[in-house]
Amino acid sequence: MPLLAIAYFSISGTTEQLAHAVARGAAGMTEIALCRIAGDDIAAGRFQNEVLLQTIDRADAVAFGSPTYMGGPAAQFKAFADASSDRWSQQRWANKIAGGFTTGACASGDQLHTLSYLSILAAQHGMLWCGLDIPGGEDPAGRNRLGSQLGLASHQADGALPQSDLSTAEYLGQRLAKMAARNG
Ligand SMILES: Cc1cc2nc3c(=O)[nH]c(=O)nc-3n(C[C@H](O)[C@H](O)[C@H](O)COP(=O)(O)O)c2cc1C
Repeated sequence: MPLLAIAYFSISGTTEQLAHAVARGAAGMTEIALCRIAGDDIAAGRFQNEVLLQTIDRADAVAFGSPTYMGGPAAQFKAFADASSDRWSQQRWANKIAGGFTTGACASGDQLHTLSYLSILAAQHGMLWCGLDIPGGEDPAGRNRLGSQLGLASHQADGALPQSDLSTAEYLGQRLAKMAARNG
């Protein structure tokens, strides 16, 4: 069975809810490694959790997740990304499937910029980006509510994630799992 690694940062738990939904969507189709990036993994600004990076080394597909902070990925996620540069120089993550998810407090809180960054991170590693094939605003089930084809953009409406965003995350997990199986 392929391995899907879900590498994400979350403080207050919203991005973590999305990470768990991605895992639910892939369940039964891939093995799943939930890789939560923790502030304690960062010392003097450097991400130092080699075990987490080695999990991604073994993965066939990777979902990158970060809240949108000040119009981009959280600094803690960026520290993790910067620590992957040793892998970049050898293109060790090349040809893995990659996708991304983010959340914010606002419906249009510059989540696209975070997703753009996640896709560029994947491109730097030679990974194969997997977006969403759900036409925004036209899905009968209401998925891809915010109309983001690059990846899952969500926001907390009235302080909580809408079910439609969790369903979109599940779909993203399912799609990553299918692509990982096809790519294997
Ligand atoms: C420092 C900081 C910056 C933020 N910047 C943005 C932003 O640019 N756009 C936005 O929509 N939400 C922004 N937010 C809201 C967070 O994205 C939102 O609370 C998110 O749910 C936090 O993720 P978590 O629950 O996984 O920790 C910001 C929050 C913090 C703490």
